[in-house]
Amino acid sequence: MSGALQGKTALVTGGTSGIGLAVVRRFVDEGAHVFITGRRQQQLDAVAREFGDRVTAVRADASVPSEVAALFEAVAARGQGLDAVHANAGVGGFKALAEVTAEDIDLAFATNVRGSILTVQGALPYLNPGAAIVVTGSTSASGTEPHLGLYGASKAAASTLTRTWAAELAPRGIRINTVVPGPTETPGLAGLAPNDPDALLKQLAGAVPLGRLIRPEEVAAAVLYLVSDQSSGTTGSELFVDGGISAV
Ligand SMILES: NC(=O)c1ccc[n+]([C@@H]2O[C@H](COP(=O)([O-])OP(=O)(O)OC[C@H]3O[C@@H](n4cnc5c(N)ncnc54)[C@H](OP(=O)(O)O)[C@@H]3O)[C@@H](O)[C@H]2O)c1
Repeated sequence: MSGALQGKTALVTGGTSGIGLAVVRRFVDEGAHVFITGRRQQQLDAVAREFGDRVTAVRADASVPSEVAALFEAVAARGQGLDAVHANAGVGGFKALAEVTAEDIDLAFATNVRGSILTVQGALPYLNPGAAIVVTGSTSASGTEPHLGLYGASKAAASTLTRTWAAELAPRGIRINTVVPGPTETPGLAGLAPNDPDALLKQLAGAVPLGRLIRPEEVAAAVLYLVSDQSSGTTGSELFVDGGISAV
């Protein structure tokens, strides 16, 4: 799909690490200019250095309306609109029901639900004709794994939101889909078990029918497909990149 995004402008929230960073790399390789966000300035600066004038890095917490508004002011200032949006910023974590605090609930829903809504809503005025949006879901949304109830519930929202938004945006010719990664080898996933990340990654890989973790580049390939003309007939759907977890 070389040059699939030539001359186009994209936004990737949470574009400084893991899946988001792999998507930024792929979008840039395909010719796009990419707006990226994250909360940590140091990480943003590192990605900006790597890609030079191919990216615009904006420090913005996806859950904070004023920061999201500032992001879209930067998009407006560039004057090219948006052809692709990946609402990807998210947080996860294992927590037994008995241990979940009000703060945990607020963080998961503020980041994964409010953040996705504010991102897609904020993008609306800037979407160019034929633009496409992807929201990052998770296999945990329909899973039964212990200690992932809060995270899974917050990710279940992604699929519900994209289905209804697909109906709302179809009259404008704008498509929106959910990418559903299984356990993907990222700093975020390893960070869920800081004391023994290798044991966690091994355990998660063992539950994947393909017998290994998903690579961020594999999720990026799916996101590229969903924002490119190659998927022009697809909206409101979920694309699983989960090594068979959901289907096998
Ligand atoms: N890895 C997996 O196994 C897996 C599986 C299914 C779904 N997912 C989903 O995939 C997405 C990316 O996860 P990942 O594994 O790549 O994690 P990661 O390596 O931790 O990257 C997360 C990215 O999101 C940013 N971020 C986090 N909270 C944010 C906020 N409130 N506002 C703006 N940016 C924020 C982070 O930067 P800052 O920390 O600097 O803000 C970072 O750039 C998430 O939505 C996650 O739930 C991951």
